[in-house]
Amino acid sequence: MSFHFKPLHPIFFAEASGLDLTQPLSSEDVQAINSAMNEYGVLLWRGQPLTAQQQINFAKSFGPLDIGLKRVFKRPERLEDERLIDISNIDAQGHVAKRDSPKNLSNFANQLWHSDSSFMNPRAAYSMLHCVTTPSWGGTTEFADLRHAYDTLDDRTRAEIQDLKAEHFALHTRLMLGDDAYTDDQKKEIPPAIWPLVDTHPGSGRKVLFVGVHARQILGWPTAESRMYLQDLLEHATQRERVYRHEWQVGDMVMWDNRATLHRGRRYDISERRELRRTTVNDTPDALLRTF
Ligand code: OGA
Ligand code: MN
Repeated sequence: MSFHFKPLHPIFFAEASGLDLTQPLSSEDVQAINSAMNEYGVLLWRGQPLTAQQQINFAKSFGPLDIGLKRVFKRPERLEDERLIDISNIDAQGHVAKRDSPKNLSNFANQLWHSDSSFMNPRAAYSMLHCVTTPSWGGTTEFADLRHAYDTLDDRTRAEIQDLKAEHFALHTRLMLGDDAYTDDQKKEIPPAIWPLVDTHPGSGRKVLFVGVHARQILGWPTAESRMYLQDLLEHATQRERVYRHEWQVGDMVMWDNRATLHRGRRYDISERRELRRTTVNDTPDALLRTF
């Protein structure tokens, strides 16, 4: 199979072609995708009509799958297989969700710059998002490269953050959005994860500025100062000219490395259907994406 990767942005993000994602991948295919992921951080395939099972099979080629926040919320789900994450504004009965529904709360949380499951350990490595239905306007997804963010830090900041660690908490975005009705048991279900602010991306060996909206505290710092600094670093990482905006078409599959990039959804009319399906591979020692 001959792959082709066409960069769509000067810093990262490429469109991939030459592979039918509905078919099983060979180990050479997996390796070629891994090395392109290590270079570009995000890959797009167009025209991939994946069934639920095909998407799961594709994702499993890269390692064990993650179900993210489902273990906290335990809500009725529309999609049968719990490894398929329903990124949509559709409720469990298949109707457009109510404006103030928990489903829409998750959608709004996805509109903040983040790296999937950075509040867990192990964290997410790859996410794969497949487009099923698009609204008539808005609903794009934006991406930014955290390796480039590190490379473009000024010397003073780089030295200052060298040994700092940040705490990432699952419910931080929910609390920010005014949703605080969680029981103590739910809050304890996912204890915060600690990650160095400056990390090394295992695939490329490049340094990463590992920030995102789940980071709520720099260890050992006062909270207000931490939050403003984290906000500043996030702004640095997501300057407009460093961001790639993806306009979805039905059948698109976008795959990103959460250890090297951030993403966020953009506004759309939530009375119209928007449906995407995500699979996410955990960054565990047996993840196949480490074997290159
Ligand atoms: C996700 C996500 C953003 C969007 O699927 O992890 O954050 O545009 N999606 O829906
Ligand atoms: Mn996400």
